[in-house]
Amino acid sequence: MQFHVRRAVPADHEAITEVAFAAWIESYAPIFGLEYVEKNVAETYTLSRSLADITHKDGCYLVAIADGVVVGFSWIIVRWRETELMRLYVTPHWQGQKVGTALLEAGEQFLRKNGISHYIVHVHSRARDAVNFYKRRGFALRHMLRLGENLCFEKWLTDDE
Ligand SMILES: CC(C)(COP(=O)(O)OP(=O)(O)OC[C@H]1O[C@@H](n2cnc3c(N)ncnc32)[C@H](O)[C@@H]1OP(=O)(O)O)[C@@H](O)C(=O)NCCC(=O)NCCS
Repeated sequence: MQFHVRRAVPADHEAITEVAFAAWIESYAPIFGLEYVEKNVAETYTLSRSLADITHKDGCYLVAIADGVVVGFSWIIVRWRETELMRLYVTPHWQGQKVGTALLEAGEQFLRKNGISHYIVHVHSRARDAVNFYKRRGFALRHMLRLGENLCFEKWLTDDE
């Protein structure tokens, strides 16, 4: 199935929230419960917060589009101390079709262009699919937080990829 990746624009806000909500329900409601998921998504994707994230001057916010619809998104933020992949979500019925890989690779292209060779991502230890996804894409465990619940992975980018 065909999709392409482009930079996100403010008008993508609602579609991004829908993808986040669908992905969170499927992956995280069994772990945290539906109430927590609804609250978390509502707080994280308010209009003002999303617009600030999408237009952040030190970030790279990307969306994957299939048939004109947002089916996945990612957000990397470049910080003085550390660059972090803050979000990577693919809508459930598009998962497993390389959308996540394409978003990750496009984000890494952005990092290389900007001379950044290292970044991190935090993942819940019970999100096994996501943990395996990152491990198979060159991320290594750096440390654990909250008694092993939250895993911090890091990746070094090489020139030849
Ligand atoms: C993790 C996630 C971003 C991966 O994106 P994706 O488009 O499904 O992944 P791709 O198709 O590019 O790659 C598939 C790989 O991921 C694994 N995978 C992870 N989640 C999967 C899912 N729900 N369905 C199928 N494969 C999944 C597959 O085993 C496959 O591994 P391999 O290619 O290394 O053998 C996506 O599944 C997702 O949004 N999951 C729910 C939310 C989440 O956990 N996000 C990460 C937060 S840090």
